[in-house]
Amino acid sequence: MSTPQIDFPRLASSLLRLGGPNETLAGVTARGAFPAAMVGGALHVPLATGGTARYANLDYASSAPCLAVVRDAIDQLLPWYGSVHRGAGFVSNVMNEAYSAARDVVHTFVGARDDDTVIFTRNTTDALSLLASAVPDGAKVFTFTAEHHANLLPWRARAHHVDLGVPRTRDDALARAEEALRRARGADRVLSVTGASNVTGELWPIAELAEIAHRYGARIVVDAAQLAPHVPIDMARTNLDYVALSGHKMYAPFGAGALIGRGDWLDRADPHLAGGGAVKRVGADSVEWLTGPSRHEGGTPNVVGAVALAAACTALGELGHEAASRYENALLDRLLSGLRMLGAEPLALWGPHTKRIGLVSFNLSGFDPGALAAALSAEFGIGVRAGAFCAHPLMDALAPKASQASAYGAVRASVGLGTRFEDVERLLTALETLREDGPACPYRLDAGRWVVEGDARVVPAMVSRSRRGVSPPEPSCR
Ligand code: ALA
Repeated sequence: MSTPQIDFPRLASSLLRLGGPNETLAGVTARGAFPAAMVGGALHVPLATGGTARYANLDYASSAPCLAVVRDAIDQLLPWYGSVHRGAGFVSNVMNEAYSAARDVVHTFVGARDDDTVIFTRNTTDALSLLASAVPDGAKVFTFTAEHHANLLPWRARAHHVDLGVPRTRDDALARAEEALRRARGADRVLSVTGASNVTGELWPIAELAEIAHRYGARIVVDAAQLAPHVPIDMARTNLDYVALSGHKMYAPFGAGALIGRGDWLDRADPHLAGGGAVKRVGADSVEWLTGPSRHEGGTPNVVGAVALAAACTALGELGHEAASRYENALLDRLLSGLRMLGAEPLALWGPHTKRIGLVSFNLSGFDPGALAAALSAEFGIGVRAGAFCAHPLMDALAPKASQASAYGAVRASVGLGTRFEDVERLLTALETLREDGPACPYRLDAGRWVVEGDARVVPAMVSRSRRGVSPPEPSCR
């Protein structure tokens, strides 16, 4: 009996809707593959000043929108939805096949070694937490203070965690890692580092850090939450031991992420989720756990999330890294130059010449970052993130540099494959308007969040708890 294969490469090509399956990348690019089609790409949002505006999504670094091809892949999958690794029905065969094909696609996407394992998790935080609990007792773990909390807190909870501080240059990062690893004693050592900062967008020298780690017999973990959507990863060639990533930052917001890497520690660790699917045999007072990904994937797996993640990996491969990064870099250049013209200097650990992904954090003189983000949304229909970005120690270190900051934190604008140049222009124009004329609406802090006084906007009825059927109040903005 044969089961239908979910053919990710063919699926992605045929769903890109940019030409036939044999169309070349050059052809795709010439036809205008970017901005790539996103679900909700033409969404209109209400303005507190009245009327609506097309939503300018400049918050890809928090959660990217869903690629249209990913949604289409899921539409194709859902009629076949059924139990994974459990049922005897034919749809279960299809699900089993889809789930293991998704694993293979993710394995290939990060250039993993043949014997690396791919464990589906909820997201990067989940993946790093799982790994932190699997690293052998007694191992020394090194992280920089500049990490996202997801790559800091699980390691800090361990007995032998060493903080390498905040390096002031790329070379300083290499020197700190080298010095610490050279002096470290003990069998197991781990260096865990981000691939691209979620605050500054700066790319970390992971290839050089991997070389240093292995020179001293340590393993390297890369938090690739921000890296994977923008930069190709080749674990085998770069010699990365582990990579963690999130589907929701890779245009596949269906609740799956992945931990990819060496299986030995993971096979000896306690299961991440103890339960059905993770065991070979359970006796009255005994249990024999499986090895491999199943050991840590107890319960019914998120096959929809895994397939979505794999469809996104395939689509990113199809779109091509070079064309994608040309497009994103052009958006980034315009964003950076426009912000500088406004006197909003981008936050950076290592200065303006460090390569970065399409993500810029900044402050505008005289504005609280939260209030500024609220005004961009309420008055211009622009989505950004403001705050300390789950990286408080890094923000503390950057604060003296953010000389114009009128409050703790910053505003972050981030772009991706669905961003239009017009969205970046809208942000720059909106910032200039706010700087020149001030906000049109009154704002106040409500439980730590900036809101419009008498906000006239209503959320769609499908998500509204209390406002269904209630007429919106009159706008209180000028
Ligand atoms: N960690 C994500 C961010 O930086 C949510 O926005």
